[in-house]
Amino acid sequence: MPRFQGLVCSATLAMALPLALVLALGSLISSTQAAARAFFVFGDSLVDNGNNNYLVTTARADMPPYGIDYPTHLPTGRFSNGLNIPDLISQQIGSEPTLPYLSPQLTGERLLVGANFASAGIGILNDTGIQFVSTTFLLSFHRRSLTFDDLQVNIIRIYKQLEYFQQYQERVSSLIGEGQTQQLVSQALVLITLGGNDFVNNYYLVPFSARSRQFSLPDYVVYVISEYRKVLARLYELGARRVLVTGTGPLGCAPAELAQRSRDGQCAEELQRAAALYNPQLIQMINNLNGEIGSDVFIAANSNQMHADFINNPRAFGFVTSKVACCGQGPYNGIGLCTVASNLCPNRDLYAFWDPFHPSERANRIIVQQIMRGDASYMHPMNLSTIMELDSRTP
Ligand SMILES: *[C@@H]1O[C@H](CO)[C@@H](O)[C@H](O)[C@H]1NC(C)=O
Ligand SMILES: *[C@@H]1O[C@H](CO)[C@@H](O)[C@H](O)[C@H]1NC(C)=O
Repeated sequence: MPRFQGLVCSATLAMALPLALVLALGSLISSTQAAARAFFVFGDSLVDNGNNNYLVTTARADMPPYGIDYPTHLPTGRFSNGLNIPDLISQQIGSEPTLPYLSPQLTGERLLVGANFASAGIGILNDTGIQFVSTTFLLSFHRRSLTFDDLQVNIIRIYKQLEYFQQYQERVSSLIGEGQTQQLVSQALVLITLGGNDFVNNYYLVPFSARSRQFSLPDYVVYVISEYRKVLARLYELGARRVLVTGTGPLGCAPAELAQRSRDGQCAEELQRAAALYNPQLIQMINNLNGEIGSDVFIAANSNQMHADFINNPRAFGFVTSKVACCGQGPYNGIGLCTVASNLCPNRDLYAFWDPFHPSERANRIIVQQIMRGDASYMHPMNLSTIMELDSRTP
């Protein structure tokens, strides 16, 4: 009975709601924008905050000890012991953390905070991350003879993320109108973190991978950058006007690579060569794109340098090691995944790497500090504090 009443009640409310909601949200949006801008996140596991929990994939961080230092101490889908880079950027710009786009809680005025579209395992290229399909899914793929397109449900590839961004804008438009939505998007901050997987989980995934037979490394980098340019151009088309674009870190220095590709604990050479080729070309491409647009829409974050600082001199940053992951097994704790059965360090703040691939919350804090205040060798053409100051002056 009470349940039935509840239903009737909300049905009546639903009829009265739209106008009230539009009015409330309309006034809310002007006040939120004064306080905090919307924030949109695109990319891979370095910035995924839980979308993959809603997908059939093996690329997820939904089990302990992931999240052990998160405020709830529970796994959330973030590939971190605690907060990740988007969480820390949200703090810096004074907004609530964004929800994963696939979260059922992302409705109503929560949409105005922004959204996180990122999905662990994806890359710039559509064929990056194909190994993250679950075995069960592969079996049903086999039995029911689904098409290759159906396989794309396993992770949200970048073009799907952009499609969701468009869908998001349609949803927000129905709440606050098209004009206000455009304004919300153009005044928003955007973060995109992509590219590492195109090497680790594609070109170098297996010896003689399809891409490595197709391209020499320098040619592959040129190709990947040309595809990334299209992604960024699309983001611009969809209304983004302030976009932080992170380069890759020193890929060969991750504990996973030390364990698999290094005999003496030096960063793995081939992946280091990949990062050394990729990062300068990314900056060049961003410069060209900004030149064409005639405005500094895209801001390059030199993640390679940000990581290299604490990888080369961990003690200067209060880490006991930058080679051994806090959670994992085997040499450098770099083999396999971080699970309940893994070695787990007692103090995560002393480790630069949380798991074989991902930085710890403390390392993320150092990175976000540089994004905020770093000089031109870290942030090109300017850092986030400068952007915020500039944008607060533009009406
Ligand atoms: C990747 O997929 C998107 C959407 O499915 C498509 O538009 C794009 O052309 C593809 N890129 C390449 C290089 O095949
Ligand atoms: C970055 O931020 C600081 C303020 O925190 C500022 O002094 C510095 O000049 C900025 N650097 C660049 C390159 O914008």
